[in-house]
Amino acid sequence: MAMQKTTALRHASFGKPAEVLTLETIELPELKPEQALLKVLAAPINPADFGRVGGTYGELAELPATAGLEGVAEILELGSEGTRFRVGQKIFVPSSVGSWQSHAVVDCQTLFPAPEKLPMEQAAMGWVNPATAWKLMHDFAKLQAGDIIVQNAATSAVGKLVIQIASHLGIKTVNLVRNLDATPALKKLGAGVVLVDDRDAAKAALEATNGKKAKIALNSVGGSSALGMCKILADGGTLITFGGMDREPAPFPTRYLIFNDIRLRGFWVSKWYATAAREDILALHNEVFTFMENAKIRVDVAATYPLEDWQKALKHANQSGKSGKVLFKF
Ligand SMILES: NC(=O)c1ccc[n+]([C@@H]2O[C@H](COP(=O)([O-])OP(=O)(O)OC[C@H]3O[C@@H](n4cnc5c(N)ncnc54)[C@H](OP(=O)(O)O)[C@@H]3O)[C@@H](O)[C@H]2O)c1
Repeated sequence: MAMQKTTALRHASFGKPAEVLTLETIELPELKPEQALLKVLAAPINPADFGRVGGTYGELAELPATAGLEGVAEILELGSEGTRFRVGQKIFVPSSVGSWQSHAVVDCQTLFPAPEKLPMEQAAMGWVNPATAWKLMHDFAKLQAGDIIVQNAATSAVGKLVIQIASHLGIKTVNLVRNLDATPALKKLGAGVVLVDDRDAAKAALEATNGKKAKIALNSVGGSSALGMCKILADGGTLITFGGMDREPAPFPTRYLIFNDIRLRGFWVSKWYATAAREDILALHNEVFTFMENAKIRVDVAATYPLEDWQKALKHANQSGKSGKVLFKF
């Protein structure tokens, strides 16, 4: 077979994506027996991608690198040893090779099957956020029907997954947003209460729940929003920080730690993936994707762009109030 090429969004230094990324067509290495040649089908633009290209993320690529944390690809060709997979199978693009590219050659041992029953765009967004939402809701407290979760950035993909999963489990959600225009869309997904994320949010939340407090608070914003959510947490409740969209440090919630014994935890799905056994990852995927399939849970797509329009796509992904994920489609 002729030498395969890939068209990729690459960077040779860390910085603002618009300044450091370039679209390049480069030759891929020859396929080894234990490797697979992938054709990428779609890849989303996630907040973490800006951190990875910017040099602020928890794990950085060796430069030069291809950007893109996740995506779905089809296996075009297998090396002679790649027996676990089949040509044509949909798999997740390993984050180490970068998903913002048309093709890749990867080691088969780094591959995980993507959900074939979910639509292709949903599968492209299937590695990061579904596992995150699921683990945030299952690993920090035993939630039961009737319990309450409070979350900020409720319009995010994670936020919308939490709303839908919670709704199917009978768990109530208090959702904090920057703009109440999002209320009808969130209610349609099953949101309980939707409130503007301001200084009065805690008071308004407790009024809306008749004083019943939340078992867990999901913080992907930071700053004063996180402190506000501490006020809505029940005694012994847990605030889990997994994102910092406003880039502000969260004030240390002294009185809620003392008088309410709340717990502060962090979560990073990449760390879980890096340390979990392969069978555990496959089992979690099976559980989450089956749940998503049965409950018809979907992550909204705002738009798809070809890789050539990457500047437009990144700008769109950064817009406040966007209606869903922005993806590259190949
Ligand atoms: N730790 C982990 O393992 C992990 C895994 C997945 C995601 N995350 C984090 O979870 C967060 C959401 O990710 P996603 O992919 O679901 O996001 P997304 O779909 O791209 O949505 C971004 C969200 O952030 C909000 N936002 C943006 N800038 C903000 C600001 N300055 N202040 C307050 N809110 C702001 C947006 O609100 P508007 O709708 O008002 O624009 C929107 O709700 C990110 O911080 C991401 O890094 C962490």
